[in-house]
Amino acid sequence: MRRSLRMQSVQTPIIPVVGELIRSHPGTISLGQGVAYYGPPPEAAQAIQTFLSDPENHKYKLVQGIPELLDAIERKLAAENGIDLDGRRLVVTAGANMGFVNAVLAITDPGDEIILNLPYYFNHEMAVTIADCKAVCVPTDENYQLQPEAIEAAITERTRAVVTISPNNPTGAVYPEETLRAVNEICLHWNVYHISDEAYEYFTYDGASHFSPGSIIGSDEHTISLFSLSKAYGFASWRIGWMVIPEHLFEPVRKIQDTNLICPPVISQWAAVGAMAAGRAYCQDKLKVTAEIRRLVLDRLREIDDFVTIPNARGAFYLLLRVHTDMAPLELARQLIEKHHVAVIPGSTFGIQDQCLLRVAYGALQKDTAAVGIDRLICGLRHLLSL
Ligand SMILES: Cc1ncc(COP(=O)(O)O)c(C=O)c1O
Repeated sequence: MRRSLRMQSVQTPIIPVVGELIRSHPGTISLGQGVAYYGPPPEAAQAIQTFLSDPENHKYKLVQGIPELLDAIERKLAAENGIDLDGRRLVVTAGANMGFVNAVLAITDPGDEIILNLPYYFNHEMAVTIADCKAVCVPTDENYQLQPEAIEAAITERTRAVVTISPNNPTGAVYPEETLRAVNEICLHWNVYHISDEAYEYFTYDGASHFSPGSIIGSDEHTISLFSLSKAYGFASWRIGWMVIPEHLFEPVRKIQDTNLICPPVISQWAAVGAMAAGRAYCQDKLKVTAEIRRLVLDRLREIDDFVTIPNARGAFYLLLRVHTDMAPLELARQLIEKHHVAVIPGSTFGIQDQCLLRVAYGALQKDTAAVGIDRLICGLRHLLSL
């Protein structure tokens, strides 16, 4: 059978490769997993009773989501993000990844370009390639911060969107409001969309604050905002997120989602209604532990700052270490698992090939495990780099 050339050009993600290595080395502590350590609030389980109480709930529902969840999201966006839905529409998706695929399909034709900032989130690059478009990668600075002039310089007549992720996966960088405003302004000027992935909006530390470009006056026609319950509410397997889109994209997005999903799983949507009733306070409370683990990890990593640079990262639950070595990051990650039983994700996964970067994820850990994991990482790096 002839194989699709398009799909052959899509990268194979490294995460399952690392997962397999972890499985074949039992006892490995994973600093690789990009999930929160906790599950949903009890209110989510309670709301499932409402789902079960009505036999009508087993039928297909609206493509864009059930009214009860749409209402809860609308209130949240107004209260927390400063986004009102004037000139915009809301579509519940099966997670922010689906929101991104919907967005790319809705705004592009084959051969169009989407600007991603490096390091990118690998599923974004994959989605762009799957849509037969080209990911144009723009470097960030030494602290993984956006460079608006470089973004503007990368815009061509084929550009359809600029993607920003703040707080960022894989770097943990939080972009300042003025930078996101500058990017949004550039997009407005050049008539391209600004896709803003805000999956980690609640995960900020040391006084950093999250800013939603969708709150900018005049951003409604060109801004696509993506959100997710996966991280904030420990909802990763429930598959609920949403997209806020310009009114004119509602019909295209509805066609795509109708074909792909028909409607987000209704039981998960009810669970989401429950989770959102518990609200941000639920996440805020859980975040205290993650903030402590982050502090511990940062303090410990200072011991190796003679050969590892850790750019400022005040968000999400990631650090992207710059290791001063010529060793390939995948090889280093492999040896860390095989010889030191600790797993991290090589930076090449995120589109950077010319440096040895390792992503450390600390969101899924408890304090004791984090301490042992980071010990192994420090020991392992010293040993493997013969320092
Ligand atoms: C930046 C970013 N966007 C989206 C996602 C996926 O979110 P969801 O589970 O809502 O599809 C992730 C997951 O790691 C992510 O890091």
